[in-house]
Amino acid sequence: MTKLNYWNQTWSLDEAQCPCDLHFVQYLEEKKVTNAAIFHFGTGNHHIVGLKGAEDGVNNAVLGITASPQEYDDYVELLIKNPRLGHTYKAYFGDIYQLDARLLPQFDYAALFHVGEFRTPENDVYGALTDLEMTLLIADKVKPGGEILFYTGSFAYDKAEAVANELIKVRPFNPAPDYKTLKVYRKRAG
Ligand SMILES: C[S@@+](CC[C@H](N)C(=O)[O-])C[C@H]1O[C@@H](n2cnc3c(N)ncnc32)[C@H](O)[C@@H]1O
Repeated sequence: MTKLNYWNQTWSLDEAQCPCDLHFVQYLEEKKVTNAAIFHFGTGNHHIVGLKGAEDGVNNAVLGITASPQEYDDYVELLIKNPRLGHTYKAYFGDIYQLDARLLPQFDYAALFHVGEFRTPENDVYGALTDLEMTLLIADKVKPGGEILFYTGSFAYDKAEAVANELIKVRPFNPAPDYKTLKVYRKRAG
C-alpha cells in the first residue's frame, strides 16, 4: 500500500548535533530582520524559528513544514496555549516534496536545511518532486534580494550542494557570505 513518506520521529533542539535552526535565528537577529516572510523546512518539535519570529518587535511571518506527526501535535499544543503565536507562525504537516506553487506566497528567506536527507524512492511512488524541483519551486517564490539557505552540517550536504550548484545555473541566485554552518544564496534583483 502506498503511504506518505512521513517522518515517524521527533527532533528536539540539539545545538551540538544540529545547530542549523539556532544559526538561522542568530543570522536573522544579527541582520535585524523584522517583518519578513520566511519558509522553514523541518520545524523540529521545538519550533524555535516560528517562536523567535513571533517575539515582540520581530514580527517575522514563518511558514514551517514538518513531516512528523509528533512535531505537528506539538505545534497544535503550542498554538492552543499561546494563541498570539498564530498571527505569525503557521506550521503544517506534509511532505515538502508535494509543495504546490499556487499555494505559496513570496518569501524573503527560505531555510532548506534538510535537502537530500529524506527524499527517497518512497516519494517517487506518489510522484513527489525531487530535491531540485522542490528547491526551484521555492526559488521562484523568493523575492529579489531574498535568500535561500542550506545547512553545511547536514549528512546529505553533498546532495544539497549539488542542488545549489544547479540552482545558481538555472535561476538568478548568487552565493552570498556564509554564516556559521549556513550556506547562503541571494536572488538577484530584476
Ligand atoms: C532532524 S529534524 C531537524 C529539525 C530542525 N530543523 C532542527 O534542526 O532542529 C528534520 C526535520 O525535517 C522534517 N522533515 C523530514 N522529512 C520531511 C518532508 N518530506 N517534508 C517536510 N519536512 C520533513 C522533520 O519533520 C523534522 O522537522
